[in-house]
Amino acid sequence: MTNTLEEAGDLPGRFSDGVGFVNGQYVPIAEAGVPILDWGFLRGDATYDVVSVWRGKFFRLDAHLERFYAGLETLQLDAGLKRGEIESVLAECARIGNLESAYVEMICTRGQPRSGSRDPRDCQNAFYAFAVPYVWIATLEKQESEGLHLAISDIERISATAVDPTVKNYHWLDFQRGLLDAYAQGAETVVLTRADGTLAEGPGFNIFVVNGDRVITPAAGVLQGITRRTAIEILERFGVEVQQEPLTLDVLHGGLEVFGTSTAGGVLPMTRIDGERVSDGTPGPLTMRVREAYWALHDDPAYVRAVADIPTPAGH
Ligand SMILES: Cc1ncc(COP(=O)(O)O)c(C=O)c1O
Repeated sequence: MTNTLEEAGDLPGRFSDGVGFVNGQYVPIAEAGVPILDWGFLRGDATYDVVSVWRGKFFRLDAHLERFYAGLETLQLDAGLKRGEIESVLAECARIGNLESAYVEMICTRGQPRSGSRDPRDCQNAFYAFAVPYVWIATLEKQESEGLHLAISDIERISATAVDPTVKNYHWLDFQRGLLDAYAQGAETVVLTRADGTLAEGPGFNIFVVNGDRVITPAAGVLQGITRRTAIEILERFGVEVQQEPLTLDVLHGGLEVFGTSTAGGVLPMTRIDGERVSDGTPGPLTMRVREAYWALHDDPAYVRAVADIPTPAGH
């Protein structure tokens, strides 16, 4: 089915920007393309997941695969690979790229229809994957020094009745518009709202607010982030009450601390909202404790799996 590390041609640097897995072959990321007629591209008909590799180890790979397979089932997609096979492909992408810390994405698209057909059931679903160097919504230095300036957008996140937000999806036009607005006003990222005016989520992250001695994060209308889950587990271990309930703008603006959670950067302190400082405008103490605990888990055998321990794809 695939070529191996050796067959991929270990030319120095060829794969160092990342590795794509397309049509059963490992290719340098710049050469990894999608057929123009794939409905994943033309119609956003796809689901995906992103797992990190940190210092040679996958973080919560099982949880990411579970979410991916749940999304496939909801969308009636078939990646055509068993869990162990996907694990091997993802590990091989990281190995070929020699990536110690990586952002690793698995994707299943509807694929290409039979010529002239408009029936999604006629498509041969396609599986793609890639690994690139770890992606940061905000670097560790930025997280530790000033934190992020967040804009709140009145652009609505696409309705949960239209696109199930618990299925990781590429319906990002709302986020992209929100980001462009946020950048235009000098902010660094954005959170979109829901039809009822409560907060939804940001491009690639969930949102948390420290409200007195409890923490609030929206539960409805959002992706159930794996980092979100990890932050909730950490907070509960600390004895902090976490309420998963609608998050209003009033509660956000009255918050002692605000942070985001994402596979792309972990626990992200938000220190300004629409130009106004959150508390004294520096990363909050509880946020930083959660963040420290989050990174400590990257050495906990219960949460990680070494890339090197995952078998090479079958047949090689
Ligand atoms: C819309 C959205 N919300 C939240 C998240 C955070 O999820 P996770 O913590 O699993 O990375 C993501 C991740 O990309 C996302 O795309």
